[in-house]
Amino acid sequence: MKKGADMKIAGKAACIFVLLTITKLTRITGNRMAAQVGHNAVMTCPTKTDATMVTWKISPKMGGPCNLGYRADQNKTDKTNCSDRVNCKFQPEQSYALEIRQVGMADEGNYSCEVVNQEGNFHQTYQLTVLVPPRLSLYCDNHRNAVCEAAAGRPAAEISWVPENNSMTRTDSHDNGTVTVLSRFTAHSTNRKTVTCIVYHATLNETKSIACSSPQSNLILYISIALGFLIIITFMAVIYYFKLHGCRLCHKTEPPDTSLTHSLQDDTTEVEPYTTYVQKENTIYNSVSDLTVGQNLP
Ligand SMILES: *[C@@H]1O[C@H](CO)[C@@H](O)[C@H](O)[C@H]1NC(C)=O
Ligand SMILES: *[C@@H]1O[C@H](CO)[C@@H](O)[C@H](O)[C@H]1NC(C)=O
Ligand SMILES: *[C@@H]1O[C@H](CO)[C@@H](O)[C@H](O)[C@H]1NC(C)=O
Ligand SMILES: *[C@@H]1O[C@H](CO)[C@@H](O)[C@H](O)[C@H]1NC(C)=O
Repeated sequence: MKKGADMKIAGKAACIFVLLTITKLTRITGNRMAAQVGHNAVMTCPTKTDATMVTWKISPKMGGPCNLGYRADQNKTDKTNCSDRVNCKFQPEQSYALEIRQVGMADEGNYSCEVVNQEGNFHQTYQLTVLVPPRLSLYCDNHRNAVCEAAAGRPAAEISWVPENNSMTRTDSHDNGTVTVLSRFTAHSTNRKTVTCIVYHATLNETKSIACSSPQSNLILYISIALGFLIIITFMAVIYYFKLHGCRLCHKTEPPDTSLTHSLQDDTTEVEPYTTYVQKENTIYNSVSDLTVGQNLP
């Protein structure tokens, strides 16, 4: 029991040590900083009293580096090759922050600060990434599949569906570093009419719903089917009407036709005696055979 407790304490100590080293490492490699395009970003230096000099070194991904220096003895700020949007936001004796107004894609890069006072030099670095909120759209394609699009976002947005769906997702990267994500909901896997698209992004979470087999289009379908039936029925009615009238006309105007049927009827009456005759003969024959059979028996 005591051994286990000791080991637990040792484990905890090791954990704390690992955590400490990790935090130290992140200090060295720099903080990740994210700013939304068009917004302002503020990065702070280590807060030190009686700083004699503060320097910001900026190395953007695109374009040349820019330096910003403050000398306390002269109470003066120098800027070299920095944009007008980049400025010191110094509150002397306290914090020496850097402010970027209306962050743009070109501001992405590494920012490092150095504060010098009697105690020594202190550093702080940032890796600035610029976030671009995607433009969202949800629509039905020609095959009545819902399509959810998060256009020109940075980083790429994530799209999910309710109900869950094995959607087809396509990702297009643009030259300016933004990404368009397009997800297609395949309707075959569900009976539900309304589907919901959820877009996850560092700058926004948004939910949109759509019904692609809309009742309006169904109504149009039903109406067209009903119309089709009506047309067929009227067509058949017209044909029947003409057939009926045509026969009545022929009965009235063409008496020879009736005479022809009469003659045909006469023919049958003429034939009839013959058939009766054959039948009669047959009966005679049958009776004869019966007679012979009767004679042959005993
Ligand atoms: C920023 O710093 C990281 C790591 O410290 C490095 O990999 C990267 O190349 C740097 N980027 C620029 C633009 O200096
Ligand atoms: C430094 O200069 C600014 C104006 O540029 C002034 O407002 C401020 O009071 C000065 N600070 C000191 C400590 O002289
Ligand atoms: C500032 O920019 C100019 C050209 O735009 C370049 O020649 C110069 O070397 C740059 N200075 C620094 C300190 O990067
Ligand atoms: C978006 O949602 C995720 C998880 O639900 C959450 O962690 C994050 O803070 C949200 N972001 C915004 C900008 O609302």
